[in-house]
Amino acid sequence: MRRVIVSAPGKLFLLGEHAVVYDGHALLTAVDSRLTLMIDHDPDATTPTVTIHAPNVGLDGWSASLPEVLTRTAYANKSSFIESCLKRFHEQTPLTGGFVVRTQSDFGAELGLGSSSAVVAATLYALAQLFAPDTNRMTLFEMGLDAIQRVQTLGSGADLAAAIFGGTIYYVNRKPRHVIEIPLDDLPLLIIYSETKAGTVNLVKEVRARYRRYPAIVEPIIHAMLNTVEQGKQALEAEDWPTFGELMNVQHGLLHALGVDTAALAEIVFTARQHGAFGAKLSGAGGGDCAIVLATEKQQAALQTAFADQHRRVLPFKPHADGVRVETAPIS
Ligand code: PMV
Repeated sequence: MRRVIVSAPGKLFLLGEHAVVYDGHALLTAVDSRLTLMIDHDPDATTPTVTIHAPNVGLDGWSASLPEVLTRTAYANKSSFIESCLKRFHEQTPLTGGFVVRTQSDFGAELGLGSSSAVVAATLYALAQLFAPDTNRMTLFEMGLDAIQRVQTLGSGADLAAAIFGGTIYYVNRKPRHVIEIPLDDLPLLIIYSETKAGTVNLVKEVRARYRRYPAIVEPIIHAMLNTVEQGKQALEAEDWPTFGELMNVQHGLLHALGVDTAALAEIVFTARQHGAFGAKLSGAGGGDCAIVLATEKQQAALQTAFADQHRRVLPFKPHADGVRVETAPIS
C-alpha cells in the first residue's frame, strides 16, 4: 500500500473575471484555505476499485470499478471531477490497482473560492507524486483543464492555474495558455462573504447571452476589462496599491455593467470605499460569493468593525498562498 497526502489552495480573482473567458487574461491570488486530499493506492488489489470519501461534497464511500472509471464518457455526479482526473491521468500514465481517495476542506463550495479546481489540482498532483513525480506544473494544468472541460464545457481554467501554481498569477487564456507568477512582499486584502452562493456556470451563460444580444456594447466592456488587467499587472508588480485599488473599482463598475453585481456585493464595496479602502470589487462570477477589499492594515481594523456592524463575515484567509504541495498529516 502506498499513501500520498497533498493539499491545494482556494483562489480569488483580483481582476479579469468574465473577460478571461473570451481569450482574455486575468490576475488571481491563491488563498490559504486549503483542500487536503489523500490517496491510498494498493497496486496488488485483486478487484481494482476507486473509493471516494469526500464529506465536503456529500460523498461517503462512493465506489466504482477502476475500468468503469477509466472508460466513463459522461459525468453527472459528485465524483465527476475526481473520476475525470483519474481518466485523464491514465491517458498519460496508465493506472492500475485500487484507489481510496479522501478529501477534507477548510472551505465549503458555498464560498466560491474554487473548491472544484482545488479538487482537480490536488487529485492530479497526488497521482503525479505516486506515478510520475517529474510532471511539471504546466503539464498538470493542461491535464486538469482537459479533465474539467470533460465535466463542464465552460471555464477559462484561471482558477485551476491559481490552485496549481499558487501565489499571485497573471493567467493568459489564449494558446499557448500560460501563467506568469508575480512575486509580492505583501497583498493587503480582506475577503468578505456576501452570504449568497453564486452559480458560476449560469452567470457565464448570462454574460455570453448579453454579449450576443448587445455585441457593440459588451465587446468594448470586455476590452476595457482586459486593459484594466494589463494596467493592474503593472501596478501589482510595483505594489502600487492606490493605483491597483482604483483599477479594482473600475473593474467592479464594468462587472456591474455586465449584470453580475448584487445589492449585497455593492453594499460591501461601498462600505469599503467609505472607510477609505484603496479599492473594492466582487471577485469571481458575481451573483454572490465574495468581495475583496484592498486596504492598509490600519484601514482593515476599521473595516472589520464596519463589516461586523453589517453582520458580514470577513473570512480569515490570507492571499498569496502556496500552490499544490505535499502534506504529512493524514486525513482521519
Ligand atoms: O465564480 P468563480 O470564482 O468560479 O469565478 C468564475 C470566473 C469566470 O471568469 C466568470 C469564469 C471562468 O471560467 O473564468
